[in-house]
Amino acid sequence: MGDAYVSRSMSRCRLAMVLFVLGFMVLTCAARNPPATRQKLQVHKHLKRLNKKPVKTIQSPDGDIIDCVHISHQPAFDHPFLKDHKIQMRPNFHPEGLYDDNKVNTESKGKENTIKQLWHVNGMCDEGTIPIRRTKEDDVLRASSVKRYGKKKHTSMAMPNNIPKTADPDLVNQSGHQHAIAYVEGDKFYGAKATMNVWEPKIQQANEFSLSQIWILGGSFGEDLNSIEAGWQVSPDLYGDNNTRLFTYWTSDAYQATGCYNLLCSGFIQINNNIAMGASISPVSGYRNSQYDISILVWKDQKEGNWWMQFGNGYVLGYWPSFLFSYLADSASMIEWGGEVVNSEPDGQHTSTQMGSGRFPEEGFGKASYFRNIQVVDKENNLKAPKDIGTFTEQSNCYDVQTGSNSDWGHYFYYGGPGKNPNCP
Ligand SMILES: *[C@@H]1O[C@H](CO)[C@@H](O)[C@H](O)[C@H]1NC(C)=O
Ligand SMILES: *[C@@H]1O[C@H](CO)[C@@H](O)[C@H](O)[C@H]1NC(C)=O
Repeated sequence: MGDAYVSRSMSRCRLAMVLFVLGFMVLTCAARNPPATRQKLQVHKHLKRLNKKPVKTIQSPDGDIIDCVHISHQPAFDHPFLKDHKIQMRPNFHPEGLYDDNKVNTESKGKENTIKQLWHVNGMCDEGTIPIRRTKEDDVLRASSVKRYGKKKHTSMAMPNNIPKTADPDLVNQSGHQHAIAYVEGDKFYGAKATMNVWEPKIQQANEFSLSQIWILGGSFGEDLNSIEAGWQVSPDLYGDNNTRLFTYWTSDAYQATGCYNLLCSGFIQINNNIAMGASISPVSGYRNSQYDISILVWKDQKEGNWWMQFGNGYVLGYWPSFLFSYLADSASMIEWGGEVVNSEPDGQHTSTQMGSGRFPEEGFGKASYFRNIQVVDKENNLKAPKDIGTFTEQSNCYDVQTGSNSDWGHYFYYGGPGKNPNCP
Protein backbone atom coordinates (compact mmCIF):
# COMPACT_ATOMS: atom_id res chain seq x y z
CA MET A 1 0.00 0.00 0.00
CA GLY A 2 2.69 2.36 1.06
CA ASP A 3 4.40 1.50 -2.14
CA ALA A 4 1.30 2.36 -4.13
CA TYR A 5 0.99 5.72 -2.44
CA VAL A 6 4.60 6.53 -3.09
CA SER A 7 4.29 5.52 -6.68
CA ARG A 8 1.09 7.56 -7.15
CA SER A 9 2.68 10.65 -5.72
CA MET A 10 5.70 10.00 -7.87
CA SER A 11 3.56 9.79 -10.94
CA ARG A 12 1.83 13.03 -9.99
CA CYS A 13 5.22 14.54 -9.69
CA ARG A 14 6.24 13.06 -13.05
CA LEU A 15 3.10 14.37 -14.65
CA ALA A 16 3.88 17.84 -13.39
CA MET A 17 7.37 17.55 -14.75
CA VAL A 18 6.15 16.30 -18.10
CA LEU A 19 3.69 19.18 -18.27
CA PHE A 20 6.44 21.58 -17.34
CA VAL A 21 8.79 20.17 -19.96
CA LEU A 22 6.03 20.16 -22.56
CA GLY A 23 5.22 23.77 -21.79
CA PHE A 24 8.86 24.62 -22.11
CA MET A 25 9.04 22.76 -25.42
CA VAL A 26 5.98 24.55 -26.72
CA LEU A 27 7.68 27.83 -25.87
CA THR A 28 10.97 26.90 -27.52
CA CYS A 29 9.18 25.48 -30.54
CA ALA A 30 7.24 28.70 -30.89
CA ALA A 31 10.53 30.54 -30.85
CA ARG A 32 12.14 28.17 -33.34
CA ASN A 33 9.29 27.62 -35.69
CA PRO A 34 9.46 30.75 -37.80
CA PRO A 35 12.98 30.06 -39.17
CA ALA A 36 12.08 26.40 -39.80
CA THR A 37 8.99 27.48 -41.68
CA ARG A 38 10.99 30.05 -43.55
CA GLN A 39 13.50 27.38 -44.62
CA LYS A 40 10.69 25.10 -45.76
CA LEU A 41 9.15 27.90 -47.76
CA GLN A 42 12.54 28.70 -49.23
CA VAL A 43 13.06 25.06 -50.23
CA HIS A 44 9.60 24.85 -51.77
CA LYS A 45 10.10 28.07 -53.69
CA HIS A 46 13.38 26.75 -54.99
CA LEU A 47 11.80 23.45 -56.02
CA LYS A 48 9.05 25.30 -57.82
CA ARG A 49 11.65 27.32 -59.69
CA LEU A 50 13.68 24.23 -60.64
CA ASN A 51 10.96 21.72 -61.43
CA LYS A 52 9.08 22.83 -64.50
CA LYS A 53 5.62 21.58 -65.26
CA PRO A 54 6.04 18.24 -67.06
CA VAL A 55 4.17 17.06 -70.15
CA LYS A 56 4.85 13.50 -69.04
CA THR A 57 6.61 11.85 -66.09
CA ILE A 58 8.73 8.68 -66.08
CA GLN A 59 9.64 6.76 -62.94
CA SER A 60 13.20 5.39 -63.05
CA PRO A 61 14.07 2.11 -61.28
CA ASP A 62 16.72 3.95 -59.22
CA GLY A 63 14.07 6.16 -57.61
CA ASP A 64 14.58 9.15 -59.89
CA ILE A 65 11.63 10.91 -61.43
CA ILE A 66 12.26 12.09 -64.97
CA ASP A 67 10.01 14.94 -66.10
CA CYS A 68 9.55 15.46 -69.83
CA VAL A 69 9.36 19.24 -69.99
CA HIS A 70 8.46 21.30 -73.04
CA ILE A 71 11.74 22.45 -74.59
CA SER A 72 10.83 26.13 -74.29
CA HIS A 73 9.93 25.76 -70.58
CA GLN A 74 13.38 24.53 -69.49
CA PRO A 75 15.29 26.30 -66.67
CA ALA A 76 17.62 28.12 -69.10
CA PHE A 77 14.81 30.45 -70.07
CA ASP A 78 14.55 31.85 -66.56
CA HIS A 79 17.74 33.73 -67.41
CA PRO A 80 17.00 37.39 -68.19
CA PHE A 81 19.42 37.30 -71.14
CA LEU A 82 17.56 34.37 -72.67
CA LYS A 83 14.08 35.86 -72.61
CA ASP A 84 13.94 36.29 -76.39
CA HIS A 85 16.45 33.61 -77.25
CA LYS A 86 15.79 31.56 -80.35
CA ILE A 87 16.77 27.95 -79.63
CA GLN A 88 19.42 26.62 -82.00
CA MET A 89 18.31 23.13 -82.90
CA ARG A 90 21.68 22.18 -84.41
CA PRO A 91 25.23 23.51 -84.36
CA ASN A 92 26.62 25.26 -87.45
CA PHE A 93 29.76 23.16 -87.27
CA HIS A 94 30.64 19.71 -86.13
CA PRO A 95 34.32 18.91 -85.68
CA GLU A 96 35.83 16.36 -88.03
CA GLY A 97 38.31 13.91 -86.65
CA LEU A 98 40.53 10.94 -86.75
CA TYR A 99 38.49 8.69 -84.58
CA ASP A 100 34.89 8.80 -85.56
CA ASP A 101 33.21 6.55 -83.11
CA ASN A 102 31.90 4.36 -85.90
CA LYS A 103 35.41 3.75 -87.09
CA VAL A 104 36.98 3.08 -83.74
CA ASN A 105 38.41 -0.36 -83.66
CA THR A 106 36.80 -2.08 -80.76
CA GLU A 107 38.10 -5.67 -81.26
CA SER A 108 38.84 -7.55 -78.04
CA LYS A 109 39.20 -4.44 -75.90
CA GLY A 110 35.93 -2.60 -75.83
CA LYS A 111 33.09 -4.37 -77.56
CA GLU A 112 30.51 -1.91 -78.83
CA ASN A 113 28.76 -1.98 -75.53
CA THR A 114 26.03 0.59 -75.66
CA ILE A 115 25.40 2.51 -72.51
CA LYS A 116 21.91 3.59 -71.70
CA GLN A 117 20.38 5.62 -68.98
CA LEU A 118 18.50 3.56 -66.44
CA TRP A 119 15.18 5.43 -66.77
CA HIS A 120 14.89 4.38 -70.46
CA VAL A 121 13.49 1.01 -69.34
CA ASN A 122 10.28 2.78 -68.31
CA GLY A 123 9.75 5.13 -71.25
CA MET A 124 11.11 7.99 -73.31
CA CYS A 125 10.39 11.68 -73.73
CA ASP A 126 8.71 12.81 -76.95
CA GLU A 127 10.28 15.21 -79.42
CA GLY A 128 9.78 18.81 -78.45
CA THR A 129 10.35 17.95 -74.79
CA ILE A 130 13.53 17.37 -72.79
CA PRO A 131 14.05 14.93 -69.91
CA ILE A 132 14.88 16.63 -66.60
CA ARG A 133 15.75 14.77 -63.40
CA ARG A 134 13.25 16.10 -60.84
CA THR A 135 14.79 17.70 -57.76
CA LYS A 136 13.23 16.41 -54.54
CA GLU A 137 12.97 18.15 -51.21
CA ASP A 138 15.59 15.79 -49.74
CA ASP A 139 18.05 16.71 -52.50
CA VAL A 140 17.92 20.36 -51.46
CA LEU A 141 17.92 19.60 -47.74
CA ARG A 142 21.18 17.64 -48.08
CA ALA A 143 22.93 20.78 -49.35
CA SER A 144 24.46 23.15 -46.82
CA SER A 145 21.96 25.80 -47.95
CA VAL A 146 19.36 26.33 -50.62
CA LYS A 147 21.77 28.69 -52.34
CA ARG A 148 24.58 26.12 -52.43
CA TYR A 149 22.43 23.33 -53.85
CA GLY A 150 23.76 22.18 -57.22
CA LYS A 151 27.01 24.10 -56.88
CA LYS A 152 30.51 22.83 -56.25
CA LYS A 153 31.72 23.68 -52.78
CA HIS A 154 33.72 26.84 -53.04
CA THR A 155 37.00 27.00 -51.22
CA SER A 156 39.46 29.53 -52.47
CA MET A 157 41.86 26.95 -53.83
CA ALA A 158 39.43 24.21 -54.73
CA MET A 159 39.77 24.86 -58.44
CA PRO A 160 41.02 21.62 -59.91
CA ASN A 161 42.39 23.48 -62.83
CA ASN A 162 44.83 25.75 -61.09
CA ILE A 163 46.62 22.77 -59.77
CA PRO A 164 49.27 22.22 -62.39
CA LYS A 165 50.37 25.80 -61.88
CA THR A 166 50.02 26.33 -58.18
CA ALA A 167 53.25 27.44 -56.61
CA ASP A 168 52.39 26.72 -53.00
CA PRO A 169 52.00 22.98 -52.39
CA ASP A 170 50.37 23.56 -49.01
CA LEU A 171 47.51 25.34 -50.68
CA VAL A 172 47.02 22.52 -53.14
CA ASN A 173 46.56 20.03 -50.37
CA GLN A 174 44.49 22.31 -48.21
CA SER A 175 41.57 22.25 -50.56
CA GLY A 176 41.07 18.53 -50.09
CA HIS A 177 40.45 17.93 -53.77
CA GLN A 178 42.72 15.30 -55.29
CA HIS A 179 43.32 14.84 -58.98
CA ALA A 180 44.98 12.48 -61.41
CA ILE A 181 44.84 14.21 -64.77
CA ALA A 182 46.38 14.67 -68.20
CA TYR A 183 46.36 18.20 -69.64
CA VAL A 184 47.43 20.47 -72.46
CA GLU A 185 47.89 24.24 -72.34
CA GLY A 186 49.54 27.16 -74.10
CA ASP A 187 47.39 27.17 -77.23
CA LYS A 188 43.91 28.19 -78.28
CA PHE A 189 41.52 25.27 -78.03
CA TYR A 190 38.03 25.13 -79.50
CA GLY A 191 36.94 21.90 -77.92
CA ALA A 192 37.95 18.50 -76.61
CA LYS A 193 36.86 14.91 -76.85
CA ALA A 194 37.49 11.64 -75.05
CA THR A 195 36.08 8.19 -74.60
CA MET A 196 36.01 7.47 -70.90
CA ASN A 197 35.70 4.18 -69.10
CA VAL A 198 32.72 4.11 -66.69
CA TRP A 199 32.93 2.68 -63.16
CA GLU A 200 31.17 3.03 -59.86
CA PRO A 201 33.87 4.08 -57.38
CA LYS A 202 33.18 3.60 -53.66
CA ILE A 203 32.70 6.78 -51.66
CA GLN A 204 33.74 6.68 -48.01
CA GLN A 205 31.64 9.61 -46.78
CA ALA A 206 28.51 11.24 -48.17
CA ASN A 207 30.15 14.68 -48.36
CA GLU A 208 32.85 13.36 -50.69
CA PHE A 209 32.56 12.61 -54.40
CA SER A 210 34.48 10.90 -57.17
CA LEU A 211 34.29 12.06 -60.77
CA SER A 212 35.91 11.53 -64.15
CA GLN A 213 35.58 14.31 -66.68
CA ILE A 214 36.87 16.72 -69.28
CA TRP A 215 37.62 20.33 -68.25
CA ILE A 216 37.52 23.12 -70.83
CA LEU A 217 39.23 26.08 -69.15
CA GLY A 218 39.61 29.72 -69.99
CA GLY A 219 41.33 32.65 -68.39
CA SER A 220 43.76 33.06 -65.57
CA PHE A 221 43.52 30.83 -62.57
CA GLY A 222 42.04 33.58 -60.45
CA GLU A 223 38.58 34.65 -59.41
CA ASP A 224 37.33 34.82 -62.98
CA LEU A 225 38.25 31.35 -64.18
CA ASN A 226 35.86 30.00 -66.82
CA SER A 227 35.20 26.27 -66.86
CA ILE A 228 32.97 23.86 -68.77
CA GLU A 229 33.01 20.31 -67.40
CA ALA A 230 31.38 17.04 -68.45
CA GLY A 231 31.73 13.41 -67.49
CA TRP A 232 30.44 10.95 -64.90
CA GLN A 233 30.31 11.24 -61.12
CA VAL A 234 29.27 9.50 -57.92
CA SER A 235 28.09 12.10 -55.41
CA PRO A 236 25.89 10.96 -52.50
CA ASP A 237 25.28 14.53 -51.32
CA LEU A 238 24.09 15.74 -54.71
CA TYR A 239 21.96 12.73 -55.71
CA GLY A 240 21.23 10.81 -52.51
CA ASP A 241 22.78 7.54 -53.70
CA ASN A 242 26.00 5.92 -54.94
CA ASN A 243 25.03 5.60 -58.61
CA THR A 244 27.27 6.69 -61.45
CA ARG A 245 25.64 9.63 -63.20
CA LEU A 246 26.22 11.68 -66.33
CA PHE A 247 26.88 15.29 -65.41
CA THR A 248 27.94 18.69 -66.65
CA TYR A 249 29.16 21.74 -64.76
CA TRP A 250 29.95 25.30 -65.71
CA THR A 251 31.22 28.42 -63.98
CA SER A 252 32.49 31.80 -65.16
CA ASP A 253 33.85 32.99 -61.81
CA ALA A 254 35.89 30.13 -60.39
CA TYR A 255 32.97 28.28 -58.72
CA GLN A 256 31.73 31.31 -56.77
CA ALA A 257 28.39 32.81 -57.81
CA THR A 258 27.81 31.56 -61.34
CA GLY A 259 27.15 28.11 -62.70
CA CYS A 260 25.95 24.77 -61.43
CA TYR A 261 25.66 21.08 -62.15
CA ASN A 262 23.39 19.89 -64.93
CA LEU A 263 20.23 21.99 -65.35
CA LEU A 264 20.17 23.14 -61.72
CA CYS A 265 20.43 26.78 -62.73
CA SER A 266 19.68 28.65 -65.91
CA GLY A 267 22.48 28.50 -68.45
CA PHE A 268 22.73 25.29 -70.48
CA ILE A 269 20.12 24.96 -73.22
CA GLN A 270 19.17 21.34 -73.86
CA ILE A 271 17.75 20.23 -77.20
CA ASN A 272 17.94 16.45 -76.83
CA ASN A 273 14.94 14.37 -75.76
CA ASN A 274 16.84 11.12 -74.97
CA ILE A 275 19.48 11.94 -72.39
CA ALA A 276 18.86 13.41 -68.94
CA MET A 277 21.63 15.27 -67.17
CA GLY A 278 22.30 13.80 -63.76
CA ALA A 279 20.61 10.49 -64.62
CA SER A 280 22.25 7.14 -63.78
CA ILE A 281 24.42 5.46 -66.39
CA SER A 282 23.97 1.73 -66.71
CA PRO A 283 25.67 -0.67 -66.94
CA VAL A 284 29.07 0.20 -65.46
CA SER A 285 32.35 -1.71 -65.84
CA GLY A 286 33.41 -4.57 -63.57
CA TYR A 287 36.86 -5.64 -62.44
CA ARG A 288 38.15 -8.29 -64.88
CA ASN A 289 34.70 -8.13 -66.40
CA SER A 290 32.79 -6.31 -69.18
CA GLN A 291 34.07 -2.80 -69.86
CA TYR A 292 31.84 0.13 -70.77
CA ASP A 293 32.79 3.60 -71.89
CA ILE A 294 31.11 6.83 -72.98
CA SER A 295 32.26 9.44 -75.47
CA ILE A 296 31.96 13.11 -74.71
CA LEU A 297 32.71 15.92 -77.11
CA VAL A 298 32.52 19.60 -76.19
CA TRP A 299 33.20 22.12 -78.94
CA LYS A 300 32.67 25.72 -79.92
CA ASP A 301 30.40 26.75 -82.74
CA GLN A 302 32.76 29.44 -83.99
CA LYS A 303 30.00 31.21 -85.90
CA GLU A 304 27.52 31.68 -83.04
CA GLY A 305 30.07 31.36 -80.26
CA ASN A 306 28.10 28.77 -78.29
CA TRP A 307 29.75 25.74 -76.68
CA TRP A 308 28.05 22.47 -77.65
CA MET A 309 28.10 19.07 -76.03
CA GLN A 310 27.65 15.66 -77.60
CA PHE A 311 27.20 12.41 -75.69
CA GLY A 312 28.06 9.09 -77.35
CA ASN A 313 27.76 8.72 -81.06
CA GLY A 314 24.90 10.90 -82.02
CA TYR A 315 23.32 12.59 -79.03
CA VAL A 316 23.89 16.31 -79.36
CA LEU A 317 22.65 17.40 -75.94
CA GLY A 318 22.63 21.16 -76.32
CA TYR A 319 24.80 24.19 -75.69
CA TRP A 320 26.09 26.81 -73.30
CA PRO A 321 25.40 30.24 -74.79
CA SER A 322 28.52 32.30 -75.37
CA PHE A 323 27.35 35.19 -73.17
CA LEU A 324 27.68 33.05 -70.01
CA PHE A 325 31.46 33.30 -70.27
CA SER A 326 34.19 35.90 -70.50
CA TYR A 327 37.38 34.11 -71.60
CA LEU A 328 35.57 31.13 -73.09
CA ALA A 329 33.61 33.53 -75.28
CA ASP A 330 36.76 33.36 -77.42
CA SER A 331 38.56 30.06 -76.87
CA ALA A 332 39.91 27.76 -74.15
CA SER A 333 43.49 28.08 -72.95
CA MET A 334 43.72 24.70 -71.25
CA ILE A 335 42.12 21.27 -71.47
CA GLU A 336 42.22 18.66 -68.72
CA TRP A 337 41.04 15.05 -68.68
CA GLY A 338 40.95 12.76 -65.66
CA GLY A 339 39.66 12.15 -62.17
CA GLU A 340 38.93 14.22 -59.08
CA VAL A 341 37.89 13.16 -55.58
CA VAL A 342 37.23 15.06 -52.40
CA ASN A 343 39.44 13.94 -49.53
CA SER A 344 37.80 15.19 -46.35
CA GLU A 345 40.31 13.23 -44.27
CA PRO A 346 37.81 11.37 -42.13
CA ASP A 347 39.45 10.28 -38.85
CA GLY A 348 42.48 12.40 -39.74
CA GLN A 349 43.55 9.90 -42.38
CA HIS A 350 43.38 9.94 -46.17
CA THR A 351 39.95 9.03 -47.48
CA SER A 352 39.38 5.59 -48.98
CA THR A 353 37.10 7.11 -51.60
CA GLN A 354 38.14 5.54 -54.89
CA MET A 355 39.04 7.28 -58.14
CA GLY A 356 38.23 5.56 -61.44
CA SER A 357 38.00 1.83 -60.74
CA GLY A 358 39.81 2.20 -57.41
CA ARG A 359 42.86 0.55 -58.99
CA PHE A 360 46.22 2.04 -59.98
CA PRO A 361 47.08 2.62 -63.68
CA GLU A 362 49.68 -0.19 -63.70
CA GLU A 363 46.94 -2.80 -63.68
CA GLY A 364 45.84 -1.87 -67.21
CA PHE A 365 42.76 -2.80 -69.20
CA GLY A 366 39.81 -4.43 -67.45
CA LYS A 367 41.13 -3.38 -64.06
CA ALA A 368 42.23 0.26 -64.12
CA SER A 369 40.02 3.02 -65.56
CA TYR A 370 41.03 4.72 -68.81
CA PHE A 371 40.43 7.68 -71.12
CA ARG A 372 41.14 6.84 -74.78
CA ASN A 373 41.27 8.77 -78.04
CA ILE A 374 41.71 12.05 -76.23
CA GLN A 375 41.63 14.88 -78.75
CA VAL A 376 41.37 18.64 -79.02
CA VAL A 377 39.55 20.83 -81.55
CA ASP A 378 41.63 23.45 -83.39
CA LYS A 379 40.69 26.77 -85.00
CA GLU A 380 39.91 25.00 -88.30
CA ASN A 381 37.38 22.86 -86.49
CA ASN A 382 39.45 19.68 -86.74
CA LEU A 383 39.73 17.10 -84.02
CA LYS A 384 43.38 16.26 -83.59
CA ALA A 385 45.78 14.57 -81.21
CA PRO A 386 46.88 16.79 -78.32
CA LYS A 387 50.55 17.85 -78.30
CA ASP A 388 52.83 17.90 -75.26
CA ILE A 389 50.47 16.23 -72.83
CA GLY A 390 51.37 16.87 -69.21
CA THR A 391 50.18 14.86 -66.22
CA PHE A 392 49.52 15.88 -62.65
CA THR A 393 48.60 14.25 -59.36
CA GLU A 394 48.96 15.60 -55.82
CA GLN A 395 49.97 12.27 -54.27
CA SER A 396 50.72 9.51 -56.73
CA ASN A 397 50.66 6.99 -53.88
CA CYS A 398 46.94 7.68 -53.49
CA TYR A 399 45.82 8.24 -57.09
CA ASP A 400 48.05 8.09 -60.17
CA VAL A 401 48.00 8.63 -63.94
CA GLN A 402 49.99 7.03 -66.81
CA THR A 403 49.79 8.11 -70.44
CA GLY A 404 50.45 6.18 -73.64
CA SER A 405 49.57 6.08 -77.33
CA ASN A 406 48.95 3.51 -80.02
CA SER A 407 47.15 3.29 -83.34
CA ASP A 408 43.99 1.87 -81.83
CA TRP A 409 43.44 4.14 -78.83
CA GLY A 410 45.33 7.21 -80.05
CA HIS A 411 46.46 9.15 -77.01
CA TYR A 412 45.16 7.48 -73.87
CA PHE A 413 45.86 7.21 -70.16
CA TYR A 414 45.02 5.02 -67.23
CA TYR A 415 44.28 6.83 -63.98
CA GLY A 416 42.87 6.39 -60.50
CA GLY A 417 43.55 4.52 -57.31
CA PRO A 418 42.16 3.40 -53.96
CA GLY A 419 43.00 6.48 -51.92
CA LYS A 420 43.94 5.28 -48.45
CA ASN A 421 46.46 2.40 -48.48
CA PRO A 422 49.77 1.61 -46.67
CA ASN A 423 51.61 4.09 -48.93
CA CYS A 424 48.85 6.71 -48.60
CA PRO A 425 48.02 6.82 -44.91
C1 LIG B 1 50.40 16.91 -50.37
O1 LIG B 1 50.62 16.36 -49.10
C2 LIG B 1 51.30 15.11 -49.13
C3 LIG B 1 51.32 14.55 -47.72
O2 LIG B 1 51.32 15.54 -46.77
C4 LIG B 1 52.68 15.32 -49.72
O3 LIG B 1 53.38 14.09 -49.76
C5 LIG B 1 52.54 15.86 -51.15
O4 LIG B 1 53.81 16.14 -51.69
C6 LIG B 1 51.68 17.11 -51.15
N1 LIG B 1 51.34 17.46 -52.53
C7 LIG B 1 51.89 18.50 -53.15
C8 LIG B 1 51.48 18.74 -54.55
O5 LIG B 1 52.67 19.22 -52.60
C1 LIG C 1 26.82 4.54 -50.31
O1 LIG C 1 27.97 3.78 -50.02
C2 LIG C 1 28.42 3.85 -48.67
C3 LIG C 1 29.66 3.02 -48.54
O2 LIG C 1 30.58 3.26 -49.57
C4 LIG C 1 27.34 3.37 -47.74
O3 LIG C 1 27.76 3.53 -46.40
C5 LIG C 1 26.07 4.16 -47.97
O4 LIG C 1 25.02 3.63 -47.19
C6 LIG C 1 25.66 4.14 -49.44
N1 LIG C 1 24.54 5.04 -49.61
C7 LIG C 1 23.43 4.70 -50.23
C8 LIG C 1 22.36 5.74 -50.29
O5 LIG C 1 23.27 3.60 -50.72
